Amino acid sequence: MRVPMDYASVMARRGEIMRSSVGIDYDKFTTGRIAFDYERMMSETGYALDEVKRIQRESNVGDTPLIELKNLTRLVRHISEPGRGARIFVKDEANNPARSFKDRRASLSVHNALMKGYKGVVAATSGNYGAAVASQAARKNLSCIIVQEVFDSLGFEQPEIAEKGRACEAYGAEVLQLSVGPELFYIFLLVLEETGFFNASLYTPFSVAGIETLGTEIVEQSRTLTGRNPDAIVSTHAGGGITTGTARGAIKAGSPDTLIIGASVDLHGLHMASDRDFNRKSFTTGHTGFGFPFAVWPDRSDVPRNAARVLRYLDRYVTVTQGSVFYITEALAQLEGLERGPAGNTSLTAAFSLAQTMDEDAVLVVNETEYTGAGKHPYAQIAFAKKMGVEVFRGDPTEEKPGKNIIIPLRPEQIEAEDVDLDRLRESYVKNAGKSLGDEALMTAADIEFLCEDTRLSRKRAEELLSENGVSF
Ligand SMILES: Cc1ncc(COP(=O)(O)O)c(C=O)c1O
Repeated sequence: MRVPMDYASVMARRGEIMRSSVGIDYDKFTTGRIAFDYERMMSETGYALDEVKRIQRESNVGDTPLIELKNLTRLVRHISEPGRGARIFVKDEANNPARSFKDRRASLSVHNALMKGYKGVVAATSGNYGAAVASQAARKNLSCIIVQEVFDSLGFEQPEIAEKGRACEAYGAEVLQLSVGPELFYIFLLVLEETGFFNASLYTPFSVAGIETLGTEIVEQSRTLTGRNPDAIVSTHAGGGITTGTARGAIKAGSPDTLIIGASVDLHGLHMASDRDFNRKSFTTGHTGFGFPFAVWPDRSDVPRNAARVLRYLDRYVTVTQGSVFYITEALAQLEGLERGPAGNTSLTAAFSLAQTMDEDAVLVVNETEYTGAGKHPYAQIAFAKKMGVEVFRGDPTEEKPGKNIIIPLRPEQIEAEDVDLDRLRESYVKNAGKSLGDEALMTAADIEFLCEDTRLSRKRAEELLSENGVSF
């Protein structure tokens, strides 16, 4: 009998398709209605740190330089109170084969696919991860299919995504380009089912284990270069893999007190699934359109249990404006001779502001750089924004309205990282956890314990929030 291919039938088979395409029996880790044993999942399906290092070395991934940004630090000190202005370092991940930190994730996923006997890999991503998977698959002689959301309904393509599609094709991958909408996941499932390839999801334990080396390298390099552990690491934050993996790596390297800070481009008011809004943003990742939803419900990802769980690790979360990131992108090139961008420059923009509040001897690490060029370049993005009716001008960045205008600061003093209230995100998480239970709103003791670990809420506060949301326990 032919297997039905309509939307509803394919969606109904998603659990089965996921199980065979990822090779993980997630049910094994379930300990309650929402609870699962996160650390056991990471240790049983992930790879031990030494093994990750070996696989990455063999794939030419990692061991990237940590560069001190002396001129940007000097500028920070020039506009700070006396005694303030941390030393800023940047982890130059553009030195990986496909030129972003995503190679760390991809190297583990592709290695795992090869070891388990899959003939190819599939990833649903419009970002750097596609190029990373394609590059790693090319080295291992595996087939690779990348499914991308590229166009709005008028056929306009986001220049940054188009550049990433080009890169995937250059590495020999087949690229399926779609317009904005729910069909992305449907097509992705169809491709997985039809090919029997490995789902190189961004959110498996393999993928997150691959990022842990970023955290260990940063801590080790900071010790070598400065004699101390980094005081803070600020990472460009979207789906949360980089924050989670880096934090776990820093802990494994013996630096549990390093502050873990996430930074996203502020895109409030723009809806990622909206056909209209899709092309009114100038950043396709590292923005709040991913950062917030994934923080408040990580399991919205394409695998049943997301290994990236940021509320466990974030000490602080800040946003910066689009115009400020363009300003800092140019400053990095013109003051430090490093043309990089665009996602990595989000954390740099935040660091430029945060460093002003830190002591001069403090070490602030910017996580990380990515390559630039073509559609990723500010000129391409700004030209496209204008074509979409977004106004671009110099002025006060605090007046920026995502989708309406992009305001490039007049002076460096105007660049400011705005704090996000992490408690509000925690509250939303609890609400979503309650909703996930459906009509039977009841949690077990194990669920509450898990909720507290996943959000860093006290038991008392978690129980208060559950009661407010009509959940019994
Ligand atoms: C260069 C770069 N930095 C940071 C991020 C954010 O990573 P995550 O989605 O793991 O938070 C991305 C993700 O798309 C990226 O491509």
